[in-house]
Amino acid sequence: MNKPIGVIDSGVGGLTVVHELMRQLPREKLIYLGDTLRCPYGPRTSEEIRRFTWEMVEFLLTKDIKMLVIACNTATAYTLNELQNQLTIPVVGVIQPGARAAIKSTLNDHVGIIGTEGTIRSNAYTEALNMIKPELYISSLACPTFVPMVEQGMLSGEIARLTVADALYPLKDFPDMDTLILGCTHYPLLKDVIQEVVGPQVTLISSSEETARETSTILEINQMLNDGLEHCHHQFFTTGDIDIFTSLTNRIFNSSIENLRSVSIEKAVI
Ligand code: DGL
Repeated sequence: MNKPIGVIDSGVGGLTVVHELMRQLPREKLIYLGDTLRCPYGPRTSEEIRRFTWEMVEFLLTKDIKMLVIACNTATAYTLNELQNQLTIPVVGVIQPGARAAIKSTLNDHVGIIGTEGTIRSNAYTEALNMIKPELYISSLACPTFVPMVEQGMLSGEIARLTVADALYPLKDFPDMDTLILGCTHYPLLKDVIQEVVGPQVTLISSSEETARETSTILEINQMLNDGLEHCHHQFFTTGDIDIFTSLTNRIFNSSIENLRSVSIEKAVI
């Protein structure tokens, strides 16, 4: 089936999932939408997160997508169930794949979770982990400073290290942690700094690999994989400034993104 896969995030973080989808599914066409204008979603109310996510989804449905990947933990936490129930296409989030990857990784059952305030408040990771393995020791922590850092392109250096160290300081009370879930798709872009702060004994988990695997499996089971041979032209949309998005993606991925357009998706609230 030669229709595109839709991918959404509040900003550039979901591109970490796009990167992995491109690697595991090189014949699939992707359409990405980052709601950069209204990023971050993390501190917002559940009602706002749901409304904004639906606006992104409605935009991508006009592009005739065959499947939706919610490449945002915050949006996954508040909308996955309703999107799966209401859409007629398969919908994948990033939380269950992240939880599965963490359980595969931990050797002593001590798993830490870091994410946005919204994701941590939702308890979605703890529930997903406990659903698979109830005897885990879990500690979760919101890191509200990380997404603005990434969106500003502050990915390394002394200020980044100090900010990350400060945010992760409460994890000192969970000394046996051997696995830490990066429960926000922006955080893998700070992976080097986070690893330096938590130490080499902790395995960092990003859900992108497992999410891409799940996407691939669903497409295969439903016989929806792209069977054409033409070169796929991905499309990228941002609700924010094109130049900022471009310079950030150039810095992050070391290559420029083609087919990037600015779009307005906000609906009037009555
Ligand atoms: N990248 C998103 C996530 O995985 C959202 C971050 C935000 O907008 O606060 O949660």
